[in-house]
Amino acid sequence: MFATSISLGLALLPFVSAAVHDIQVGAGGKLVYSPEAIVRSFYKIPSAMLFIGSQSAQPGDQVVFHFNPKNHTVTQSSFASPCGPKSGGISSGFQPVAANQTTNLPTFTVTVNDTQPIWVYCAQAAGTPNSHCGQGMVFAVNCGLDGAPNSFTNFKNAALAVGASLSAAATVSSTTAAAAASTTAAYGDYTIPPAPVPTLVTEAVTLGSSTWTTTYSSYPNSPAPTPASLEGQVHKVIVGGTGTLAFNPPMVSAAPRDVIVFEFHQKNHTVTQSAFDDPCRKLSTGNGFDSGFFPVADNATDFPTWNFTVTDTAPIWAYCRQSNPSSHCGAGMVFAVNSDESSGRNFAAFQNVAKALNGTAVAATVPSATSQASGALSMNTGGASAMVIVASFIAAFL
Ligand SMILES: *[C@@H]1O[C@H](CO)[C@@H](O)[C@H](O)[C@H]1NC(C)=O
Ligand SMILES: *[C@@H]1O[C@H](CO)[C@@H](O)[C@H](O)[C@H]1NC(C)=O
Ligand SMILES: *[C@@H]1O[C@H](CO)[C@@H](O)[C@H](O)[C@H]1NC(C)=O
Ligand SMILES: *[C@@H]1O[C@H](CO)[C@@H](O)[C@H](O)[C@H]1NC(C)=O
Ligand SMILES: *[C@@H]1O[C@H](CO)[C@@H](O)[C@H](O)[C@H]1NC(C)=O
Ligand SMILES: *[C@@H]1O[C@H](CO)[C@@H](O)[C@H](O)[C@H]1NC(C)=O
Ligand SMILES: *[C@@H]1O[C@H](CO)[C@@H](O)[C@H](O)[C@H]1NC(C)=O
Repeated sequence: MFATSISLGLALLPFVSAAVHDIQVGAGGKLVYSPEAIVRSFYKIPSAMLFIGSQSAQPGDQVVFHFNPKNHTVTQSSFASPCGPKSGGISSGFQPVAANQTTNLPTFTVTVNDTQPIWVYCAQAAGTPNSHCGQGMVFAVNCGLDGAPNSFTNFKNAALAVGASLSAAATVSSTTAAAAASTTAAYGDYTIPPAPVPTLVTEAVTLGSSTWTTTYSSYPNSPAPTPASLEGQVHKVIVGGTGTLAFNPPMVSAAPRDVIVFEFHQKNHTVTQSAFDDPCRKLSTGNGFDSGFFPVADNATDFPTWNFTVTDTAPIWAYCRQSNPSSHCGAGMVFAVNSDESSGRNFAAFQNVAKALNGTAVAATVPSATSQASGALSMNTGGASAMVIVASFIAAFL
């Protein structure tokens, strides 16, 4: 009887005025709509364990989406296909918002016309492992309660499943591409492990008072593309020294704007940029860096330095150009910045290529085809979820 009166009361409620529902899109940089859903509200009568449903978004209501920084969309999909556009469905288009914008956020308004569910997702990076939808950035109006087949939870799980399969597909295809990309060195008949496969990432970057949205290539397991500070960190590397044909440390992990200070010790060395597959010759494409020779006397106590400023997080390979009386590079005097240590192209592999091509260690270090393949696999597995970097990014900085 109690239940009946409430149900009657609801049935008799007139549609007085249209409500406005405000939804934040990507608040706090998170890939989420908040709230995530306008669910059917309900009245629960504990003693009777009875639910009486009503729609919390009524025909005539407006749903106003407020776009926070980054670059999102409000795009209508279907329950069956959460991360794809519904034909003829609503779409806000991309709404790029700078990271420092806190007021006058762009909005997009959807008018609710009936009591049917409306399913929504963010179309950024659709079809890629970075898909915002695939990472759970979905929203619903008038979806079912938890437990119902068309609940928001079921919809979001379906979106996450799309994301998981995109990641798995990317891992498989890059593994395939990588496996196919093993090459033979320019000389020395040495098999070179495959190159890493970068992915495109769109992100808002803030540094001090500057901020911008950028799309860039991101490499597996490289440091975050965001510079740590305006000045960058300083990494000191000792080059050579008495009885030492090495860079110390032989590799560094550096963010854009970081400075690597090479301090030249005894003997007569250089630090010269090369390529992974051709470690002991100056980079032939583009403008590879080269410090030139720094002869340092055996009794020297003052050591000259030469600086290199990092502009992105793509792996960088370098070597010492000295070949008198014998090849320093062939002896393993090589250096790496942001090498992916979990991949087939880690520092040790680079050094092995140098020794194989210009040293005396050829037979001992040529890797078998089998070890190549497993190296490629571990790289891609490790890199699948990791961030990344940056090609066009640099221009934005300098
Ligand atoms: C926003 O994202 C879309 C799709 O990725 C891209 O085409 C567009 O250039 C981005 N806008 C900005 C300003 O980054
Ligand atoms: C409701 O109808 C209006 C006018 O036809 C239309 O612009 C709007 O997109 C519709 N809303 C939805 C959710 O389809
Ligand atoms: C955001 O940063 C950009 C670049 O530094 C600047 O031009 C713009 O005025 C800033 N906007 C706000 C709202 O602070
Ligand atoms: C340093 O090495 C280069 C290349 O071998 C050579 O041309 C140069 O004369 C050397 N400098 C000194 C001071 O030995
Ligand atoms: C190093 O030795 C050379 C000659 O062998 C001498 O001319 C020079 O002054 C010495 N330099 C230092 C820093 O001791
Ligand atoms: C190299 O960078 C360091 C640290 O920023 C600085 O102290 C030094 O003066 C620089 N050296 C050269 C040759 O530019
Ligand atoms: C390595 O070997 C190649 C081919 O013989 C040669 O051109 C190159 O100068 C060598 N580099 C060094 C640093 O020894």
